[in-house]
Amino acid sequence: MKALVLAGGTGSRLRPITHTSAKQLVPVANKPVLFYGIESLVAADITDIGIVTGDTSAEIEAAVGDGSAFGARVTYLAQERPLGLAHAVHIARDWLGDEDFVMYLGDNFVVGGIKELVDTFRAERPDAGILLTKVADPSAFGVAELDAGGRVVNLEEKPAAPRSDLALVGVYLFSPAVHEAVAAIGPSARGELEITDAIQWLVEHGRHVQPTVISGYWKDTGNVTDMLEVNRSVLEQVEPARLGAVDDASELIGRVRIEPGASVVRSRIVGPAVIGPDTTVIDSYVGPSTSVDGDCVITSSELEFSIVLGGSRIEHAGRIEGSLIGRGVHVTGAQRAPRAHRLVLGDHSRVQITT
Ligand code: DAU
Repeated sequence: MKALVLAGGTGSRLRPITHTSAKQLVPVANKPVLFYGIESLVAADITDIGIVTGDTSAEIEAAVGDGSAFGARVTYLAQERPLGLAHAVHIARDWLGDEDFVMYLGDNFVVGGIKELVDTFRAERPDAGILLTKVADPSAFGVAELDAGGRVVNLEEKPAAPRSDLALVGVYLFSPAVHEAVAAIGPSARGELEITDAIQWLVEHGRHVQPTVISGYWKDTGNVTDMLEVNRSVLEQVEPARLGAVDDASELIGRVRIEPGASVVRSRIVGPAVIGPDTTVIDSYVGPSTSVDGDCVITSSELEFSIVLGGSRIEHAGRIEGSLIGRGVHVTGAQRAPRAHRLVLGDHSRVQITT
């Protein structure tokens, strides 16, 4: 069995972070979200992994390499433009050959992994297996309708009037039957080859599409709110450690991980939180559900329920909450009058100012 991991696309809902980097590489507890997916495939004994990439292919390849760090063998498959999830299957057709495969969306996060699901698929071999979960806002997802016997009757991508509250999770199991379906469908109204349409085609042609409804934790990390929420949940499992320097005037409370080379001076860190390698925290408070990546400087500031990417400086900034801060960002408090906001923001940035 192979795996096809989708790491192309545009990531418009995570702008401006995704202007300069891939959304699948935004860190959760200081580790790219994509790595969790690859690890769960390897844990399900799938080591032959094809990664579909788009504009950010260089960055994805630099991060994942040949896959050996994960115990996998990775092949990169370039998708010229993000023409849809079924289009990604189409371009991977030759590489996939006639093997069964798992299609894993690189920005999805499934707690507890997929081993059980993969084992069941291997044993029962339906034509396709889909994963569903109840959500509050089904119109933001692919939506499945099941009949009284639990069989799939209808699938629709981001419907305005959803027929159920069961969203498609971004993990799909396919036999080679999917290739016939992908070849048969045309682009949707939004111009993409939808995998939901391909699965609907299988249903309409009497193929066995096996749904599994999960109640466990799942998130599509495509937007900032979900990203922060996944980060919060993963940090709750982080292994506490004090691998950097913490002075006597500082206090670490709860589940806190201080990475090597980090230094904490006259500060209070309340977990769950991670302070990345070579990051310095001085005269500051870092509160629960926060991860600060490597090479950052946090001085005389308060930070809570946030993600800070590498190489950023937050100095005399007051209190920051619920924020996603990119790489090499400077946030500084105005040291003198007038007390004005001075902003240099990238395209599509979002700032909420307390006045
Ligand atoms: O997260 C679950 C949802 O994922 C499902 O409920 C939907 O049915 C499914 O269409 C998908 O919706 P999204 O709008 O979240 O898909 P997105 O455009 O974010 O793409 C998902 C991943 O696939 C992401 O890592 C980018 C990658 N991708 C996407 C497209 C359209 C590609 O590699 N190539 C593409 O052409």
